[in-house]
This record gives sequence, structure tokens and C-alpha cells, in this order.
Amino acid sequence: MKIKHLATEKDTTDFAAQLATIIPSSTIIFLEGSLGAGKTTFTRGFLRALGVTSKIKSPTYTLVEPYEIAGKKIFHFDLYRLVDANELEQIGIRDYFAQEAICIIEWPEKGSPLLPAADIVCHITFAASGRKLSMQATSEKGEQILQRIT
Ligand SMILES: Nc1ncnc2c1ncn2[C@@H]1O[C@H](COP(=O)(O)OP(=O)(O)OP(=O)(O)O)[C@@H](O)[C@H]1O
Ligand SMILES: [Mg+2]
Repeated sequence: MKIKHLATEKDTTDFAAQLATIIPSSTIIFLEGSLGAGKTTFTRGFLRALGVTSKIKSPTYTLVEPYEIAGKKIFHFDLYRLVDANELEQIGIRDYFAQEAICIIEWPEKGSPLLPAADIVCHITFAASGRKLSMQATSEKGEQILQRIT
């Protein structure tokens, strides 16, 4: 388990950017935390670091937003609006995870049991000042990534 204090929004985007530079092309990241915790902010920092210049907004209604940059695929999921896990079947969830892509998933708890296991589970909570980020590796790949984070 790695814990980071993220005092400002910039700390969050900077940290996500650091993670983006070391992440392998097929990694599944769960982003947990309550409304306004900073999951989309984190994802924005991550995507910007990879070179995404277009507008980044949470795919709340569409459930997933695809990005392709410098030969890397990234799927950003936001499952907040999901009422029935079967909706995931309808969008062809399996096809997304079968690809060589980085998958970042906000509100993953809403998608279980149809989601695959994560490599890293990030949990953001409100702190007295800013946010606290807890990162748990849940696979061998996740372990290796967390070991490289400073
Ligand atoms: N240290 C911080 N890290 C991230 N966001 C912060 C921080 N401090 C303040 N903020 C603010 O908190 C808000 C986080 O919003 P964001 O949309 O990223 O949350 P979210 O977890 O994706 O929420 P939702 O569950 O609604 O999707 C932003 O307005 C951001 O500016
Ligand atoms: Mg969000």
C-alpha cells in the first residue's frame, strides 16, 4: 500500500502524470472515492501527461471515453450512472478489456461483478487539507508499478 497526501489539485495531476509515464500499455486502474474526491482530476492529469490535448470530461452518461495517443489506447470509464451491470454487457465491456489498453475506471464498485480484476486500486479521500490517495497493488503488474513510484 502506498499513501500520498495531495494538498492541491496540482499535486493530484502531477502525481497522476508521474504514474502515466511508467504505466504499461495494458493496465487496469480502479479509482474509488466519493463525489468530488478527485477521480476525474486524477484521470485528467494522467491523460494530459500522455499527450491528450482535447477536452477531458467524465463520460458519465456514455460510461466510457476512448483515447488513442502515440500508439497507446486508454479507456476512461465512469460507472456512476450505471443502474444495472447488464448495461456493461450492452456496451460490449469485454471487448474493451480484451484490448491492449490502459483502463481507468471511476466508480468500479458499480460495475462489479462484470469488471475484471484491477492491477491497482486507488482510493481518494478528503483530508483536512486536500486529499489522501491510497494505492493498493492487486496484481504482480500492479506491484511492479507501485515499486517504481516515488
Ligand atoms: N487535492 C485535490 N485533488 C483533486 N481535486 C481537488 C483537490 N483539491 C481540490 N480539488 C477539487 O475537487 C474537485 C474534484 O472533482 P472531480 O470531478 O475530479 O471529482 P470526482 O472524484 O471525479 O467526482 P465524481 O464522483 O463526481 O466523478 C475539483 O473541483 C478539484 O478542483
Ligand atoms: Mg469523476
